[in-house]
Amino acid sequence: MRILIVGASGTIGRAVAAELGQRHEIISAGRSSGDVRMDITDSKSIRAAFEKVGSIDALVSTTGKVKFAPFLSMEAADYEIGLKDKLLGQVNLVLIGRHYLSDSGSFTLTTGVLDSDPIREGTSASMVNGAINAFVMAAAIEMPRSMRINAVSPGVIAEAMKDYAPFFRGFEPVPAARAALAYAKSVEGAQTGQVYRVL
Ligand SMILES: NC(=O)c1ccc[n+]([C@@H]2O[C@H](COP(=O)([O-])OP(=O)(O)OC[C@H]3O[C@@H](n4cnc5c(N)ncnc54)[C@H](OP(=O)(O)O)[C@@H]3O)[C@@H](O)[C@H]2O)c1
Repeated sequence: MRILIVGASGTIGRAVAAELGQRHEIISAGRSSGDVRMDITDSKSIRAAFEKVGSIDALVSTTGKVKFAPFLSMEAADYEIGLKDKLLGQVNLVLIGRHYLSDSGSFTLTTGVLDSDPIREGTSASMVNGAINAFVMAAAIEMPRSMRINAVSPGVIAEAMKDYAPFFRGFEPVPAARAALAYAKSVEGAQTGQVYRVL
């Protein structure tokens, strides 16, 4: 398969590229790194990148930013960051990417453990993750040409604990390589409309 990984240089993306790269052609993408550059918050940039890449058999997104801050300090503009980036950015990868995805191809988006296990300062992350999970569930039943769509919801990644540990006390870290297996299941398996929780 030809697999486009958006966010391939990141903590999760590198592990996904290593797992899927053993069996498939990987095209890496990021805002400032990769075989092709794209900014998921900018439709024009996503379109231009797909024009360069051409037809693909799978799109994996391992990117998306949200604002972490105490609920009492959060204003609408703070939520807009996550809505525009992690939520609409990943949705837009599907809306634009569906024109370049082969029959029976797949989309795999990334959410995270905060979809169902909240932490302090995480209201935006929880909201956006829940919205993406729901989008995947609903979009799956209308996907044309046997295309599939799933989300992976990893726990806090072991390799990221140096930055995240104070926020995730008591959470069992997940090695990125283990999270990557769920992406392989989504891309290489047959299921659709699923949220794979890797905890
Ligand atoms: N790390 C964790 O513990 C963890 C746990 C659960 C869920 N998640 C979720 O998993 C996703 C990835 O997390 P991560 O920790 O692997 O992130 P990361 O290490 O910060 O990597 C982010 C990746 O996304 C790319 N990127 C950033 N902004 C972009 C944009 N606007 N357009 C296109 N690409 C962009 C970066 O490449 P460039 O620098 O080249 O742009 C990089 O490849 C996030 O949605 C995060 O919420 C993470």
